[in-house]
Amino acid sequence: MRKIAIVTQKGGAGKSTLAVCLAVAAREAGENVCLVDLDPMGSLSNWGDRRKSQDILVMAAAQGELNTVMGELETLGVTLVVMDTPAGDTMVAEEAMDVADLCLLPARPNIFDVAASGGTLQKLKARERDYAFVLNQCPPQRQSPRIQQGIDALAAMGVLMTPLVAARADYQEAARRALGVTEFASSGAAAAEMRELWRSTRARLDGVELEQIDAA
Ligand SMILES: Nc1ncnc2c1ncn2[C@@H]1O[C@H](COP(=O)(O)OP(=O)(O)OP(=O)(O)O)[C@@H](O)[C@H]1O
Ligand SMILES: [Mg+2]
Repeated sequence: MRKIAIVTQKGGAGKSTLAVCLAVAAREAGENVCLVDLDPMGSLSNWGDRRKSQDILVMAAAQGELNTVMGELETLGVTLVVMDTPAGDTMVAEEAMDVADLCLLPARPNIFDVAASGGTLQKLKARERDYAFVLNQCPPQRQSPRIQQGIDALAAMGVLMTPLVAARADYQEAARRALGVTEFASSGAAAAEMRELWRSTRARLDGVELEQIDAA
């Protein structure tokens, strides 16, 4: 059972949106997925309550409960856990970092979001956890030269997931209907992004290059 935590102190960066869309893309790729909602705001629980399909287990958990929850999920045969965490500096997000195999940090490609990830980054580095940024809500066309430099720097450090995730109405509409974007508009550009994000996430979890995933 592999565990991903979606973490960043910055509010509104896209943690919950990416958690559900990645979970659905992974489910479609054959994983037995559980979404764990660690945010008292309950975005994922709300999504799960409204969702018609029962294909993805959605459970809420609080500080101090994660180790027990992980044990239970293992016995249920879950193969992938995706944890959504609250914004801000919280103990529960730190607990998620502690149990995760990989931490994904969504950030919009602007100086405020990237700078606001600093506290989260320090915590991840102190734990020697594998982590990578997911640049979210990017302009669908080319990035400005300054933003592109930042992107190239993250990529050169090996801490940038591919692909860049664009700002697209499909993400909002899918969430409204309690779907993943691969279900809502399966042949759309957002769906292609999420399938690709799952592929690169899987490769990173397996410690292999993307090309090796293709060959498998
Ligand atoms: N790629 C995207 N394209 C368009 N809208 C997006 C995208 N990603 C997120 N959003 C929108 O941005 C807003 C914030 O996203 P979301 O709630 O997922 O962020 P969050 O990090 O979970 O926020 P919080 O810190 O409050 O929990 C939502 O309205 C969501 O629909
Ligand atoms: Mg959220």
